[in-house]
Amino acid sequence: MKDGETAPGRGWFITIEGPDGAGKTLVAGLLADALLARGFDVVQTREPGGTAVGEAVRHIVLDHAPGDAPHDPRTDALLFGASRAQLVAEVIRPALDRGALVIGARHADSSLAYQGHGGGLPQAPLRELQDFATGGLRPDLTLLLDVPVETGLARKQVDEQTRFEATFDLDFHRRVREGYLALAAAEPERFQVIDATAPVDAVVETALGAILARTGTATEPSRPILRIHP
Ligand code: TYD
Repeated sequence: MKDGETAPGRGWFITIEGPDGAGKTLVAGLLADALLARGFDVVQTREPGGTAVGEAVRHIVLDHAPGDAPHDPRTDALLFGASRAQLVAEVIRPALDRGALVIGARHADSSLAYQGHGGGLPQAPLRELQDFATGGLRPDLTLLLDVPVETGLARKQVDEQTRFEATFDLDFHRRVREGYLALAAAEPERFQVIDATAPVDAVVETALGAILARTGTATEPSRPILRIHP
């Protein structure tokens, strides 16, 4: 373990990632219901947000008004990182320590994809920042809901658009999608890429199958959940 890291908890940390409009929030909610019904202790999180600090950061990073100066991508990286650090310390770690299954809608890979591939920040310092913010916590499984940029953006109503959807151009969003796919290709043992143009029931079924396979409860959904760390 490196400095600043703490021992991994007993639970499971599953993240859901993907471009805007991929359906992460909807899928996360349906997955949480399905896992609760199977007896898992489920905790749902979303980023940015989930704590008082995180919700305050959420307003700073996502709200926008005409004429606002664009954020430097470093500013965004630090703000998303601040929200993430507080969420890990206040919610995710304690949940994992008690053996819960945490479903996180967005986590560190969002910063690597958006501020890195989208915003042009180099990956190495961004990764260090993620490790600093999370104390080295890594998801056990990351479900990447992949959707073509035009399809994803078209799913969002104008009144629910964040600064990222309203002010970033198509090329930015294309780099984000390609960035996600590159992250998944580099870590195939952690990522499962799911076609999010499929009907939501099919997406949830695939995602649930991946989670149950990862937690080793595919055939026998019972607790306690044991995890062996190599
Ligand atoms: P949100 O409305 O929560 O979108 P979604 O439902 O798709 O998650 O807005 C989050 C926005 O913030 C989204 O456009 C992606 C962006 N973002 C980053 O750029 N970096 C990050 O680290 C995170 C967590 C989000």
